Amino acid sequence: MGVSLPAGSRIAGGRLAGFLGSWRRPDGRGAAVDLAAALRLLILDGRLPVGTRLPAERELAEALGVSRTLVTAAMDALRDAGMVASRRGAGSWISVPGKEPDLTGWALHPPPEVIDMAHASPFAPPELAAAVDRARLRLPELLPSHGYHSFGLPETRELIARRYTERGLPTTPDQVMITNGAQHALALVLRLHVGPGQRVLVDNPTYPSAVDGIRAAHALPVAVPLGPDGWDLDSVEATLRQAAPRLAYFVVDFQNPTGLRMPAADRERLAAALRRTRTLTMVDETLVELDLEGDPLDGPPPLSAFAEDWVVAAGSASKAYWGGLRLGWLRAPVELVHRLAEARPSLDLGSPAFEQLVLGELLAEGDTVLAPRRKEFAHRRDMMIGLLAEHCPEWTVDRPGGGLNLWCDLGKPLSTQLAMAVNRLGVQVVPGSRFAAHGGLEHWMRLPYTLPEDQLTEAVRRIGLAWNGLAEPARSSIGIA
Ligand SMILES: Cc1ncc(COP(=O)(O)O)c(C=O)c1O
Repeated sequence: MGVSLPAGSRIAGGRLAGFLGSWRRPDGRGAAVDLAAALRLLILDGRLPVGTRLPAERELAEALGVSRTLVTAAMDALRDAGMVASRRGAGSWISVPGKEPDLTGWALHPPPEVIDMAHASPFAPPELAAAVDRARLRLPELLPSHGYHSFGLPETRELIARRYTERGLPTTPDQVMITNGAQHALALVLRLHVGPGQRVLVDNPTYPSAVDGIRAAHALPVAVPLGPDGWDLDSVEATLRQAAPRLAYFVVDFQNPTGLRMPAADRERLAAALRRTRTLTMVDETLVELDLEGDPLDGPPPLSAFAEDWVVAAGSASKAYWGGLRLGWLRAPVELVHRLAEARPSLDLGSPAFEQLVLGELLAEGDTVLAPRRKEFAHRRDMMIGLLAEHCPEWTVDRPGGGLNLWCDLGKPLSTQLAMAVNRLGVQVVPGSRFAAHGGLEHWMRLPYTLPEDQLTEAVRRIGLAWNGLAEPARSSIGIA
């Protein structure tokens, strides 16, 4: 039986080397095994999608500064696992394993015994079941209609608009469209507004699925570094001027992964630059309700308040309520909402009506649902910081004012190696490089505090074990026993 050729794009050796980060142990042992493990991480993580054509082994060896024999050995291991296919004259590409994947490696869908810290996605609130019951009683009101609502159910849009108004941004329901999550809102904006080869300004680090979405639209992410203290607005302004991006994407409330929040004065300055350069911007407010220090209504005004015509705000039910609802929304000028609704049918024909009823029930409850949730996450955040101080005392971990993640500075560029070592101990984590638009950020590791206490405790214990295993040779090499 012939092997069909892949349709995917080719990744150059240099770019793949950037994605791979610091895969090699400092003492150089087990290099082929480590290279295979790092490549497997990229494949299962979706950064090397099935069909991607790989560089020639010689090219990759040169880019990595290692021998070709080493690269061949790593590729052979991946070929044996069915993750890479090759054909003489056609090269190698990422393929789907024909046999059971080895679950000691990274997996998108971990078996239950693996502790999943790769997703910063919390449990559902206890009030969800009762909201479903109430929505079920209201379902008959919807059944006589066809059930397709490309803008969303009017009453749920109304509740979303009311929340924006409460946050200081007067909003009418016709400025709101309900989507299948914030990620879908971004996909819609990209589909309508951004063409192949156009630039999209992003923070670095940023939410990786946004970068994946930008790349899937064949657009080019242009990354502006985010400092430890926040946004470097001089650089943002210069990039807006010089790169003339077609779209900008920011997460200004409890940014994923850093947890940073942009102060009101910076929002005002950023908005002025967006207006001046006429740059349409998506501001992702997925985490805005998870203010762990105070009431979200006391936070800085939404970015849209300073540049109404240039900002599409994306919201999400996934973190405040539950990811399983698969619901989010966008808020934009009415005319743009209409154009997005016209673009929508090529992606989907509307969001699930029943879940929108459920979301409406949860939104109507407001703080009854959200206040205990914030309290619980604040508790888990503080507990996790304490655990890390005990098990990984060399790390620097700032306390974010909200959101769901700790952005940990390891003090050494060992993030990918640590992710691989932690993975071998049955804990899935995402290395810092996953949050970089163009590789790097090997000093950093993102750790969510969404899991129950017992799992957080066990996960950090294992992370500490893996870290100490990695850090030992480096320490002894500079004479500190
Ligand atoms: C910043 C950010 N945006 C969007 C999403 C995805 O949101 P949704 O589930 O609504 O598509 C996430 C989830 O982790 C996120 O952190």
